Amino acid sequence: MESLLIKGGVPLHGEVTISGAKNAVLPIMAAALLTDEPCVIRRVPNLSDVKFMAQILEWLGATVKVKGDTVHIHAHKIKGSGDYELVRKMRGSICIMGPLLGRLKKATVSLPGGCVIGARPINLHLKGFAALGAKIRVENGYVEATAKHLTGAAMFLGGRAGSTVLGTGNVMMAATLADGVTVIESAACEPEVVDLANFLNAMGARITGAGSPTITVTGVKKLHGAEHDVIPDRIEAATYAIAAAATNGEVTLLGARADHLHAVLDKLHDCGVKIERKGSAITVSRKGSLKPIDVTTLPYSGFPTDVQAQMMALMTLTPGISIITERIFESRFMHVSELARLGADIEIEGPSAIVKGGKPLSGAPVMASDLRASAALVIAGLAAKGSTQVNRVYHLDRGYENMDQKLRKLGARIERIEES
Ligand code: EPU
Repeated sequence: MESLLIKGGVPLHGEVTISGAKNAVLPIMAAALLTDEPCVIRRVPNLSDVKFMAQILEWLGATVKVKGDTVHIHAHKIKGSGDYELVRKMRGSICIMGPLLGRLKKATVSLPGGCVIGARPINLHLKGFAALGAKIRVENGYVEATAKHLTGAAMFLGGRAGSTVLGTGNVMMAATLADGVTVIESAACEPEVVDLANFLNAMGARITGAGSPTITVTGVKKLHGAEHDVIPDRIEAATYAIAAAATNGEVTLLGARADHLHAVLDKLHDCGVKIERKGSAITVSRKGSLKPIDVTTLPYSGFPTDVQAQMMALMTLTPGISIITERIFESRFMHVSELARLGADIEIEGPSAIVKGGKPLSGAPVMASDLRASAALVIAGLAAKGSTQVNRVYHLDRGYENMDQKLRKLGARIERIEES
């Protein structure tokens, strides 16, 4: 297994180009299953999650060819069930279910189960499929949805933590080939849902309202092949912005969408970080000390749960008390005990982490538990004095394209080593 070895204390300087969004590309690749014609997806990040999704599509019978950051998918003939081992590896693969149900009227997928950040149920996905007329059966760890035909319906997809991103996408994909009109209330408003809707519309779907809590899908008989450029990854952009602030540096994010980053940039501004925009470039710099803040994660356009851990790393460097409240995933605080190994003082009280920041961090070996926790540990390691070894770096490779290379270009002393 590989680790990242970081010699901290070097301010990051320079430009970093933001890759295509992981959480947009996964459902978009799955959407290519809705047509028997070829699709071309550009600006696809080179990530292990993308490779898993390509393997799943191939297992279902599609041809997937990767040329640089362009992926060609041709799902000429497909079967309707997802291999357990592949689906189990990546929760995001649940989004093959909507396209399979839409096109074949039958989908069998291994139940994804929980993960370290929380229980991660799929009841809302299934509620949406059932509203379209599918019969749902759960047996032997698999969930099966079958229908003679799908019929558009009005449905409410809000859950205990608000909307569901992949649930909205899944139901939207199935509804594109249903008879009649589907109205999804309490739909997720994330930019990744909008990107998926744009791709589906380019394939001939009739979707309006994506980006708002009410999405309307008017079913069509058939979808055709399409080409699409994936949106930039707002979580990757936020991660580099926070790394710049944490190291007292100055980093320009190239190709990021500031309009997808309002909540993060606003909080960074409140913290005393300088944000400048010029065209599509966003420059993040820090002059002097930081101010403590309170952050609560919420569905879009609120502060993203996927940036909570990275923000916590920054708060450990900020003199005073900051409170970070996690409202989306109940156990997304795995990074707290690892940050403590670097000297951070954080207490968990229910859904909140109370960060008593400002003490200098010092390097230590730490263990990554999930993707965003790993990013937080890298940020903390970049700011800490001495060496930090972040183990289990495969978590990072799931969602950050060439993170160590990009950081090295910004001046970081970071190398990939074999875990000792
Ligand atoms: N939920 C339910 N029932 C459902 C589905 C979700 O109760 O049927 C709950 C979840 O337990 C959670 C909340 O609703 O409390 C939101 O979960 P959501 O369904 O929106 O999450 P997701 O779609 O499975 C995507 C991203 C996650 C990101 C969340 C929230 C992908 C592949 N994954 O997951 O990304 O945290 O939305 O924004 O798009 C990551 O990139 O590190 C990551 C975990």
